[in-house]
Amino acid sequence: MNVAYPPRNFETDLAAIEGFADLLKTGFQNPEGIRGTVKLHVPEMPEHGFIARYDEELHIERNDLDRETDTFVSIPIDTIKRIFWEFEYLDFRDPSIIGTIEFSGNLGYANHLAKACLRPSNFTLERFKSVGQLHKAKGYRELTKVEYLHQPTQRQILEIISESRPVVITGLEPSPPCKDWTIDKLAEKYGDAIVRVRSATQKQNMREFVQELKEFMANPYDDIVEGFVKPYTEGASLPEEMWPDFGPLFFDREDFIPPQLWLGAVPTHIPTSSLHRDPRCGFLLQVIGCKRLDLYSADQEDLIYPHKAYNNYQPCWFRPEDPDYSVYPKAEKAKCLQVTLKPGEMIVQPAGWFHQVYALDSPNMSVSYFWRY
Ligand SMILES: [Fe+2]
Repeated sequence: MNVAYPPRNFETDLAAIEGFADLLKTGFQNPEGIRGTVKLHVPEMPEHGFIARYDEELHIERNDLDRETDTFVSIPIDTIKRIFWEFEYLDFRDPSIIGTIEFSGNLGYANHLAKACLRPSNFTLERFKSVGQLHKAKGYRELTKVEYLHQPTQRQILEIISESRPVVITGLEPSPPCKDWTIDKLAEKYGDAIVRVRSATQKQNMREFVQELKEFMANPYDDIVEGFVKPYTEGASLPEEMWPDFGPLFFDREDFIPPQLWLGAVPTHIPTSSLHRDPRCGFLLQVIGCKRLDLYSADQEDLIYPHKAYNNYQPCWFRPEDPDYSVYPKAEKAKCLQVTLKPGEMIVQPAGWFHQVYALDSPNMSVSYFWRY
């Protein structure tokens, strides 16, 4: 049972749409006062769609549905119900979700709205609370360096996790053999593997993705919206055929949630993952290029403005890469712990640490694993 928002059983499709609108409204935040409109179109019941208008709050409007909006989102009734029932663990990158939704117009607004319909589970709420207390007791806010460990044992890893200390692991070679990968080698070995599903009509395999990546690197652009247009796989599922080359270490495969792929090119001043935290311990293996992680201890939660609507990924409104202290004044006091990850290194990042990630060079590739427990 979720304390933040109870799931409901809908008697009718119309009730499901109303429940969904309520979910959006109660999860919506807009600290920067962005103004915009998104039309939510339900193909099976077009007359029961609605327009979500951003103000300080979210307004659900049902009159004049034909008017022009900044963003258009078409979402089938079954997907609406699924979102409602699964908000505790829903991942919009799941092809069976994203593959049913059509977008056009301002995709940033759709992204903003998508985040409003998530809710944390009790597990996540409890985890963040206990980690916050632990970080405070340990004084992790004052840490200035991330520890390095060469070829640690499983026992040492368990100790790191229980103490919630981030640690970089070295000496992983030759297994997995991640020092000599290139994007050409990936395209050659895994050309047909699906690496990104963006909508019902857009899917990319490795060969196509690498081609897009090369075109981007030849002519990079800065206009990038999280989740949609950057040539970056953003934690898409690692195709199964790639698992043997980038398999998890230290524990059995069953101890991890299926791995995620972070492959692509992102300009160095734009974070590849914006400031957020995860409720499970993450293992991030760096394969191509370097990544920098900016970490904030969990006891600094109040200083960096985390979203109230989230599930297995809690984003922050405050953006360290473009700080606006007039909107987020407490963030001036936040202390950041930086570390750079080189190919062949892996960071163990215990649950609850806020982090922002930058690709220091392109192309760039990492594989991440979340420990289940
Ligand atoms: Fe993360």
